[in-house]
Amino acid sequence: MNFHQNTISVVVGGNTGIGRAVADELSKREGRVIIASRRSGLDVADPEAVERYFSSLGPIDHLVFTAGSQAPGGKLVDVDLADAKAAFDTKFWGSLAVAKAASRQMRDGGTITFTTGFLARRTVPNTFVKTAMNSALEAVAKILARELSPIRVNVVSPGLTDTEAYEAMDGAARQAMLERAAANLPAGRYGRAEDVARGYLLAIDNPFMTGAVIDIDGGALVN
Ligand SMILES: NC(=O)c1ccc[n+]([C@@H]2O[C@H](COP(=O)([O-])OP(=O)(O)OC[C@H]3O[C@@H](n4cnc5c(N)ncnc54)[C@H](OP(=O)(O)O)[C@@H]3O)[C@@H](O)[C@H]2O)c1
Repeated sequence: MNFHQNTISVVVGGNTGIGRAVADELSKREGRVIIASRRSGLDVADPEAVERYFSSLGPIDHLVFTAGSQAPGGKLVDVDLADAKAAFDTKFWGSLAVAKAASRQMRDGGTITFTTGFLARRTVPNTFVKTAMNSALEAVAKILARELSPIRVNVVSPGLTDTEAYEAMDGAARQAMLERAAANLPAGRYGRAEDVARGYLLAIDNPFMTGAVIDIDGGALVN
C-alpha cells in the first residue's frame, strides 16, 4: 500500500452499497477519495459526460467502479431488450467509458478495479442480462490488463450482498432472501458491503495482481 497525501482515488458508484464501503476504507488512508454517481452529477451511460468529468479531474491514482446494480430479470422471451441494453449502457459500456477516460489521467502505479457478480459464471435461468454484462466485462478486463499495462486492471465479483440495491424490495422479502442465502452458501452468511470492499483493497494494494477476478461470494460458485 503506497498511499500519500497526494494520492487520488475515484470511486464511481461510491454513494451507496459496496462502493460506499470501499470509499470508507480508502478514506482511512492518506490522500483524497472522490465519489461520483448520478446524484453527484455523473451519469456513466453518457460517454461525453464521462470524458468531460475525467478531463476536469486531472491526474488520478486509483479507480474503483461499482456503478449500475440494476438489470432486468426474466426469460429472454419476456425481457424488453431496450431495458437490457440500458443496463449494459451503465454497467458494461459505463465501465469501459470510465476506464478509457480515467486511464489517460492515471499516474504510475495506477489501478482500475471493476465490479461484476457471481452470475457471470453461474447458469441461472432468468438472469441472462446480468450473466451477459458481467461475463463480457470480465473478458474485457483481462484484455485491458494487457493493453493498459503498467496500470493494473482487476475485477471483484461479489455474491449476494445486502446493499441499497435491494431497497425497493419489501423488508420481509429482503430479509428472507438474505437468510435463505446464508443458510445455503458454504460460508454460512450473506455478504456485507465491508466483506466485498476488502477485495478492492487487495487489488489496489498487491503489486503482483492484474487481470484477476476476485470472487467474494460466500462460495456461490462452488455451491
Ligand atoms: N449487492 C449484490 O448482491 C451484488 C451481487 C453481485 C454483484 N453486485 C454488483 O456490485 C456493484 C455494486 O452494487 P451495490 O449492491 O453496491 O449496489 P448499489 O448500492 O445500488 O450501488 C450502485 C451505485 O451505482 C450508481 N449508479 C447507478 N447508475 C449509475 C449511472 N448511470 N451513472 C453513475 N452512477 C450510477 C448509483 O448511484 P446514483 O443513483 O447516485 O447514480 C449507486 O450508488 C454492481 O455492479 C452490482 O451489480 C452486487
